[in-house]
Amino acid sequence: MGYTIGVDIGTSGTKSLLVDPDGNILSEASASYPVLMPKPLWTEQDPEEWWNATVKTIRAVVKKARVKPAEVQAIGLSGQMHGSVFLDKAGKVIRPALLWNDQRTAAECEEITQRAGGRDELIRMVGNPALTGFTAPKILWLRNHEPRNFARLAHVLLPKDEIRRRLTGELATDVSDASGMLLLDVRNRCWSHELLEKLELDPSLLAPVYESEEVTGSLRPEVAAQLGLTTDCKVVGGAGDCAAGAVGNGIVRRGILTASLGTSGVMFVHCDEPQFDLQGRLHTFCHAVRGKWHMMGVTLSAAGSMQWFVDKVCPDLATRRGTDAYAVLNGEAAEVPAGCDGLFFLPYLAGERTPHADANARGCFVGLTAAHTRGHMARAVMEGVAMSLRESLEIIRQLDVPVREMRVSGGGAKSPLWRQIMADVMNQAACSIQAEQGPAYGVALLAAVGSGRFKRIEEACRATIQVVQKMPPRRPSVRAYDRIFPIYQSLYPALKPTFEAIAQLH
Ligand code: XUL
Repeated sequence: MGYTIGVDIGTSGTKSLLVDPDGNILSEASASYPVLMPKPLWTEQDPEEWWNATVKTIRAVVKKARVKPAEVQAIGLSGQMHGSVFLDKAGKVIRPALLWNDQRTAAECEEITQRAGGRDELIRMVGNPALTGFTAPKILWLRNHEPRNFARLAHVLLPKDEIRRRLTGELATDVSDASGMLLLDVRNRCWSHELLEKLELDPSLLAPVYESEEVTGSLRPEVAAQLGLTTDCKVVGGAGDCAAGAVGNGIVRRGILTASLGTSGVMFVHCDEPQFDLQGRLHTFCHAVRGKWHMMGVTLSAAGSMQWFVDKVCPDLATRRGTDAYAVLNGEAAEVPAGCDGLFFLPYLAGERTPHADANARGCFVGLTAAHTRGHMARAVMEGVAMSLRESLEIIRQLDVPVREMRVSGGGAKSPLWRQIMADVMNQAACSIQAEQGPAYGVALLAAVGSGRFKRIEEACRATIQVVQKMPPRRPSVRAYDRIFPIYQSLYPALKPTFEAIAQLH
């Protein structure tokens, strides 16, 4: 029997699940770890934490599902995108990895744009402009700020690909995750030697690129023994968490969009042809579907904003025994009318990506009065994230990419209130599917394709993923949000000079 395992190396933790040949999830496990913040807007993680969490959760799912080791035929890897694992030639990690939401590389983005011959040239070579979260600026940051570490640098891997190296001994990446390094010729699905040359980066730093369902290696003997699996277990290319999440939601054909409310928020649409936003507001990356692409907009702090609100603003709720802080806040927020009686939240807690690529942007509540309550603030956080994602949707619509259906996913989508807010802000029904595990499920399906259970990922998704709920937009709320959206949109331009002044304080 061909069972597969999907592993998602996320920002707050790693989740693994074991799936049977029909796509049913037999067991799940997760393990969390911290994000290190050595300075404001810097974020780092120790790859050893990802490895320990991967071993722990794979062992747990194998044990819980009670399957025979030889029955697990393949593993798919997904993970937070863009992070930089710097390795020396002996395979030692040189320093903690810089993460996707780290904002230290503004000067390096400028340097890349100049070396490329300008923003348009860069978009021509790699499909996207230089953004602080992407990987290439992190490599230049190492060269500019830690030259001794740079002198030792032999390889740069993405988070899930570091786990692959430890599982299989192979250096490899997949087209979807590689797209977020800003070094891939996204149109032709191969490294851009043209840009590497301009940046004076040695191509040997980068791993060979595979399509997402291709087999990249098998488990090393000592690892197979540690995990309770066999050396016949293959590891497929897998995907960055956005593309993996999209596969896990069945976004493998035109017309369906996934709005994901994870730590970050992502509006993701499938494209049959590579299509580029010449203004560089949306990213165009390779999809985990062979020969297909996708466009996406990213709100850096989505469910991450809600987590911040719970942990930092309502710590009494977060630590009270027997209390589910999210349930309490959802209850209070549900009592507040759409539009929060004039209270707005800008979710720029980690700077912003789409549409305002600005490392200096800061989170704000705007419009507070003495009448506003904690419930208003919680609802404003949900609405602010939804309106930020609507900004991406508007660009997708302007580019004539068809959107006939919206599937809402990710941790934040567990809240029916937040799903309804998404439907009302976007004026589009919020659909949910039966499997909520997004990225880990998506790569378990890619592993099922790689091990021969399905011919193509589209077939795997058709066989396993169904929409189980559809929340239509409610007219009065749609009207309320249409009225306040222009006010939301006016806030960032008005505050931009203030954000710049605040950034000068550090
Ligand atoms: C995508 C991005 C985030 C991370 C989070 O471009 O930066 O969604 O992948 O895991």
